Amino acid sequence: MQATARAQPNIALIKYWGKRDVARNLPAVGSLSITLADLYTEMDVRFDAALASDKLTVNGTDNITMLPRISRTLDSVAGANRLCARVASRCNFPVAAGLASSASAFAALTVAASSASGKERSIAELASLAGRASGSAARSLYGGFAELSNEANDVSVTTLAAAEDWPLRVVVAITTRAAKPVSSGDAMEISRKTSPFYQRWVDEQEQDLAAARSAVSTRDFSDLASIAEHNCLKMHSVMWASRPPMVYWNAATLNCLQTIRELQAEGVAVFFTVDAGPQVKAVCTAEAEQRVCAALRATDGVEALMQSGLGAGAGLISNQSRTPA
Ligand code: PMV
Repeated sequence: MQATARAQPNIALIKYWGKRDVARNLPAVGSLSITLADLYTEMDVRFDAALASDKLTVNGTDNITMLPRISRTLDSVAGANRLCARVASRCNFPVAAGLASSASAFAALTVAASSASGKERSIAELASLAGRASGSAARSLYGGFAELSNEANDVSVTTLAAAEDWPLRVVVAITTRAAKPVSSGDAMEISRKTSPFYQRWVDEQEQDLAAARSAVSTRDFSDLASIAEHNCLKMHSVMWASRPPMVYWNAATLNCLQTIRELQAEGVAVFFTVDAGPQVKAVCTAEAEQRVCAALRATDGVEALMQSGLGAGAGLISNQSRTPA
């Protein structure tokens, strides 16, 4: 009744922002992302008849804030009549600060809980369950370049290119380690209800997806850069125009964008994207990586850098649910 899974965060190049069905956590728009290789969450799930309630530790410390969401996910994966579970999460990067920690956490949780409860499920089924917990988590079941599409009552994810087909690099500039003030789930709802730009954002998403899909299929870095930056700034414009406004950026976020603009002017193959947090993700070619790192490290307000290649989707590390004969 115990299993451990590992999942990597993914970074959306064409973003998910807004829900069409809050109860089922279905996104209002499709999205396209890259799954990372070197940042990860590992999740142990152990169902235990001796427990009276679910328990969660994150990096060795008891955590009650995330527990209700974890319990709901365990219910949907293992069934509401499941045993209580001890869940231990380990993450090698800052959580809840705009680094897609919920994507890797809920992807790993879904894989581990499904295995520990003895259920055989396809990747598509696991992605759908992970997506109920965190919309972006569905994409972390898949490696490389993944596109999430809306179906009538669900989501489906396809791999557009494997990590090794276009081995881009990602440099994350950490501008603060503080947790974000408003969760992305709450912020999306505020945007949907109040931002004058929200409907336009939804209406234009299909054309942004088509442009990114085409750039991925032809491996056209500058086309991908152009549509990814545009889509990112559009999403943040929706947030900034919401009431209350949602501004996740800090001064160092803007400094990093300026650094990336300067690198681009020098012909360096790099572009930025920013999620619901103040960290800047610089996507670049392997040849550009050292220059991108040097420039971001020298940027005012940058606390640390993390580097990663692109990697595979979530997977099981171990399973001890078989009863010995
Ligand atoms: O999956 P959530 O609810 O944490 O939302 C993710 C939202 C963004 O990271 C801003 C965009 C995305 O597509 O990942």
